Amino acid sequence: MNIQKKAAVKAIAISGIALLIAITMTACSESEQSSQAMQAVAAKQALPEITVYKSPTCGCCTAWEEHLIAEGFTVISHQRDDMDSIKQSLGVKPHLASCHTATIGDYVIEGHVPADDIKRLLKERPKVAGLTAPGMPRHSPGMQPPEEKPSGYDVLAFNKKGGTKLFTQY
Ligand code: CU
Ligand code: CU
Repeated sequence: MNIQKKAAVKAIAISGIALLIAITMTACSESEQSSQAMQAVAAKQALPEITVYKSPTCGCCTAWEEHLIAEGFTVISHQRDDMDSIKQSLGVKPHLASCHTATIGDYVIEGHVPADDIKRLLKERPKVAGLTAPGMPRHSPGMQPPEEKPSGYDVLAFNKKGGTKLFTQY
């Protein structure tokens, strides 16, 4: 083999290796991307949709929805003028009432309940009608800047008769 031929063979060999590396790297990043996508789908599937009813003028309700979205929930939002009748039909007694009312599966979520409590509810699945944070707690998601932690109020589990049990103390 003369020098020219040797150089040509070498060049082909090097470009072949480079091509192989390139193919391997592409395949690698593609499978990584698809597994990330699958994880995202799995996370979404793990959290069912939450349907929120709120009055059109409620700003803290919208902020609470944004908190849920940030925590991975899919929010179906309905603006309603008849919040009292929605609460009544979902079994939220006046002493348990807040601004917005939501449903997730068979559970009712009333007021500024943190996303973590909803996740725990879905995991533990206690035999209750739902969770409520009665009134309008000042230091709750939707009522305070999103980076602040909930504090100074109770999230209650309630039944259809209006009985309550402490779920989380903040
Ligand atoms: Cu509110
Ligand atoms: Cu609200």
